[in-house]
Amino acid sequence: MNGAVKLSGRCGRCRISRSDKVAGSIHLVELEIRDCPVDLERPRPGQFFQVKCADGPEHILRRPLSVHGITQWDEPGHSLELLVEDVGWGTHRLCSLSVGSEVELLGPLGRGFEMPRAGKALLVAGGMGIAPLFFMAREMDHVDAGYDLVAGFKSGDCAYAPLACLKGGGVLCTEDGSAGEKGTAVGKAAGYMERSVYSMIYVCGPEAMMAEMSRLAEKADIPCQVSLVSRMACGIGVCRGCARPGRNGDNLCVCREGPVFDSTRVEWICVQ
Ligand SMILES: Cc1cc2nc3c(=O)[nH]c(=O)nc-3n(C[C@H](O)[C@H](O)[C@H](O)COP(=O)(O)OP(=O)(O)OC[C@H]3O[C@@H](n4cnc5c(N)ncnc54)[C@H](O)[C@@H]3O)c2cc1C
Ligand code: FES
Repeated sequence: MNGAVKLSGRCGRCRISRSDKVAGSIHLVELEIRDCPVDLERPRPGQFFQVKCADGPEHILRRPLSVHGITQWDEPGHSLELLVEDVGWGTHRLCSLSVGSEVELLGPLGRGFEMPRAGKALLVAGGMGIAPLFFMAREMDHVDAGYDLVAGFKSGDCAYAPLACLKGGGVLCTEDGSAGEKGTAVGKAAGYMERSVYSMIYVCGPEAMMAEMSRLAEKADIPCQVSLVSRMACGIGVCRGCARPGRNGDNLCVCREGPVFDSTRVEWICVQ
């Protein structure tokens, strides 16, 4: 057990100020925080919100979505960006809402990425893993931290990573070569690791990809933080629905202790 449960995050309703399809079934949804009746804390990269995708008592379960970006948080008119892939009922509802609709949010929740103290970082995103890592890159830009970002996708029709608006270096790659460079995120990241020295690696993506990146990081003796994905119910550490095995035989409560963990704490599952 992990001691007493500490509830975090605040609940508020926000207005959708933008909702655009940016690639395949991926939507960029911007929420205006200005009219939110509660003061939401400034989110950190890797943190997420539990989003209620529809009103009504039959839609109790919220869906966890990472923060993809924030704008002018300390000024009037600030907003929150979510990058949402339409994969099922809840995300489809959210992506279908028009500008002006309201959604209820709980957050920001969980433990995010720790900013690097020194040196250059390698950010490795697979698929929708770009959502939190793009926010991380933008926050690193604010403090002039050095990084390379590798964003890998299966193909160009589901690729979204506007690297040109970031200060750091990086590459977009696809497995079939239909956009960016041909190759996998892990393959490209391994190449970067041969050419540069990194003080920290941050990873978010499919389980097998994160497992492989954490193996490479351990071999190179570079600290590595991974953002885990788990089915969630409460999102605040109460139901234990998100628990998954840790390497020391313990259970990791992904929503409250994570979703970001030091890779050495994680027991990888379903690795093919
Ligand atoms: C911490 C965290 C951050 C996330 N950030 C993002 C994000 O920024 N953008 C984004 O598009 N998605 C993100 N996800 C995944 C997202 O929560 C799920 O895709 C979503 O809950 C699916 O809900 P649904 O009702 O549309 O799908 P459902 O109808 O419930 O299920 C449709 C399919 O999605 C799968 N699925 C459902 N929930 C999850 C889940 N939690 N993780 C993985 N697969 C799931 C199901 O197995 C099924 O195959 C995140 C998940 C977590 C845990
Ligand atoms: S989702 Fe309920 S404890 Fe994590």
